[in-house]
Amino acid sequence: MSGCCLSTMGASMTDAQIDSCVVDMIGRMTLAEKIGQLNQLSGYGYAPDMIGSIRDGAVGSILNETDPEVVNKLQREAVENTRLGIPLIFARDVIHGFRTIFPIPLGQAASWNRDMVEEGARVAADEASSVGIRWTFSPMLDIARDARWGRMAEGFGEDTYLTSELGVAMVKGYQSDDLSAPNTMAACAKHFAGYGAAESGRDYNTTWIPEIQLRETYLPPFKAASDAGAATFMCSFNDICGVPSSGNRHLLQEILRDEWGFDGLMVSDWGSIQQMIPHGYSADLSQAAAQAADAGVDVDMESYAYISHLNDLVTAGKVSEARVDSLVANVLRLKYRLGLFDNPYVDMATASRFYTAGNLDAARRAVEESAILLKNAGALPIDKSKVKKIAVIGPMADAPYDQAGTWSFDLEKSHSVTPLAALEAKYGKKNIIYVPGLTFSRQCTTDGFAKAVEAAQKADLVLYFAGEEAVLSGEAHCRTDLTLPGAQSDLLKELHATGTPVVMVIQAGRPLALRDDVDNADAIVYCFHGGTMTGPGLTNLLAGEVNFSGRCPVSFPRMSGQVPIYYNRKNTGRPAQGMTLIDEIPLEAGQTSTGCTSYYLDAGDGPLFPFGYGLSYTTFAYTDPVISATEITPDENLKVICTVTNTGAVEGAEVAQLYIRDHVGKLIRPVRELRGFEKFNLKPGESRQVTFTLTPDDLAFFTSPTTREVEPGEFSVWISSDSNSGNPATFNIVAATPDVASR
Ligand code: BGC
Repeated sequence: MSGCCLSTMGASMTDAQIDSCVVDMIGRMTLAEKIGQLNQLSGYGYAPDMIGSIRDGAVGSILNETDPEVVNKLQREAVENTRLGIPLIFARDVIHGFRTIFPIPLGQAASWNRDMVEEGARVAADEASSVGIRWTFSPMLDIARDARWGRMAEGFGEDTYLTSELGVAMVKGYQSDDLSAPNTMAACAKHFAGYGAAESGRDYNTTWIPEIQLRETYLPPFKAASDAGAATFMCSFNDICGVPSSGNRHLLQEILRDEWGFDGLMVSDWGSIQQMIPHGYSADLSQAAAQAADAGVDVDMESYAYISHLNDLVTAGKVSEARVDSLVANVLRLKYRLGLFDNPYVDMATASRFYTAGNLDAARRAVEESAILLKNAGALPIDKSKVKKIAVIGPMADAPYDQAGTWSFDLEKSHSVTPLAALEAKYGKKNIIYVPGLTFSRQCTTDGFAKAVEAAQKADLVLYFAGEEAVLSGEAHCRTDLTLPGAQSDLLKELHATGTPVVMVIQAGRPLALRDDVDNADAIVYCFHGGTMTGPGLTNLLAGEVNFSGRCPVSFPRMSGQVPIYYNRKNTGRPAQGMTLIDEIPLEAGQTSTGCTSYYLDAGDGPLFPFGYGLSYTTFAYTDPVISATEITPDENLKVICTVTNTGAVEGAEVAQLYIRDHVGKLIRPVRELRGFEKFNLKPGESRQVTFTLTPDDLAFFTSPTTREVEPGEFSVWISSDSNSGNPATFNIVAATPDVASR
């Protein structure tokens, strides 16, 4: 146990020093010790088998071990009872908080607030690292445009730019500026790649993504994460065009490492090396191991492929030892970067740092920024002078488990503050009539309706907490029907019929199809799953003490059949026009009588609520954008400026969104593309000048898998409050001439 590899250099180690330690260490390792570093196991306590595996040097990292004392004991086995003393890394899916649960990532995306996302990740890292977790499998950067896919909940929604920005913020939050500090976690950009495109929104399903689209839509958030220093990546379960990611050398080696220069660690997804067998890509586990090693999967999570077969594959000359060395180098590099050689143990004096006042406060603010006001016909904010009695109804009013949403492994539901508890605290228990009506979201019985209706009749306002239980979204939890589950829509109808104003508050893991519910609510608040502080955050918003500033991170479909739906679609050759909907079509009308344009007879065209949309208790006015030039060359920047004014009576935060459209291209471009956003606060009457700079990079697109260019021609640019409003300014890109270029 000597040499630079174990000296106490901590944060001061440069990349070059780390690399030389890695080379030195590899030089001292046996093949078996190398292969052990590539093996990741799920923890099951300080158990004899696990101790044996560690002492044998047959495991390099452990996931799902969260007891700090067990973590330390296992770590001691690795550090003190193995030949080289290489520490383990402990990993966990800390997706939106560890104990203090923040809104699900889709909810955080609705905040459009980079700082808030970063802060949430910092809190998660501090809490999780306090039990020894130094590697989280987050952020999920999969672009998701089909709300049937349950994992939409785990990412930042449908847009490539928004996902890139918030993904980078999350990486920074987890890793801070110094990954070797003991209160950080290595981030893991996942799932690389294309997983969100799972056909028909069914989890683990196949994808067929042409490389141009892969590069245009699915890869940029990963590139941004790699550029931001994300320490690790995870490959995905799906195949792309017939090649599973775990065996995809083009993706994992050529694009990620050779093109982007990523020198971090690539972990497989759970069992994904083995799953190349049912995929039909590998004949057996040995072949799967060889394919994964060749593609560039460094760590085998729970396939037992490397530990069972790599030794024989090397002996048989099917995988070179040099290849194994390069995989091991990535694992060791991470261990050095995390400072684990210097500081392998959890400090028990400061272990289990959970639920500090600051953490709870950050989680509450995250709820406040993540909730979207979709409709308000005057029922909100709650007017205390008129509203004396509030009926609190619905299955999500008091659901401490479900409000946390998917991937809340470490939730302690006794710490969840539900809307009911927070409302009782704010308005007094005696002024709240709580009748759930339905006890869980999928419930179909109407047995509880009568009492709920009675409560609504006695009250001045109904707060109806509807939505989805946590288990209806997340991995392997996909749905084809995107309406409110169970009898929730029926209950809403009955509540509405009482004449008492109804505010529907939805907590869900995806954008639900609310077409048939909108008219039955006087106001609609969409909160996704808000986590621990859902109750206090929502209550502050409903009371008007905090203004709404959440904006849709996804397009909300009217009906389930519209998915996949997203704002930056292509225009088609026959964009929707003069739509005749199903009820308006005369009997025996001619086939061409509806005008032959692109829409659904029953859902029309477009979403119910567009990407970027969200109301507030105030209003904002935008001037038309002013641009710095009407002609630029492909290598010039363009400034786009507008003024936003708070035209209402209360203070509020607005999200100014920058969109472009390239009107004519070698390859057709989308009708709008987000290229910037800024969130800021304005007092009543206050104005702010918003300035964005469009760079050539913002205007370029892939014209082939290897060419990204800015094409001459006409562009529109908007600064608007959502993806469907505002007036554009128009400019032209002209081919560069020596004269113009030298300006
Ligand atoms: C998921 C990953 C997760 C891993 C480890 C897999 O099933 O797809 O996102 O990180 O399990 O829990």
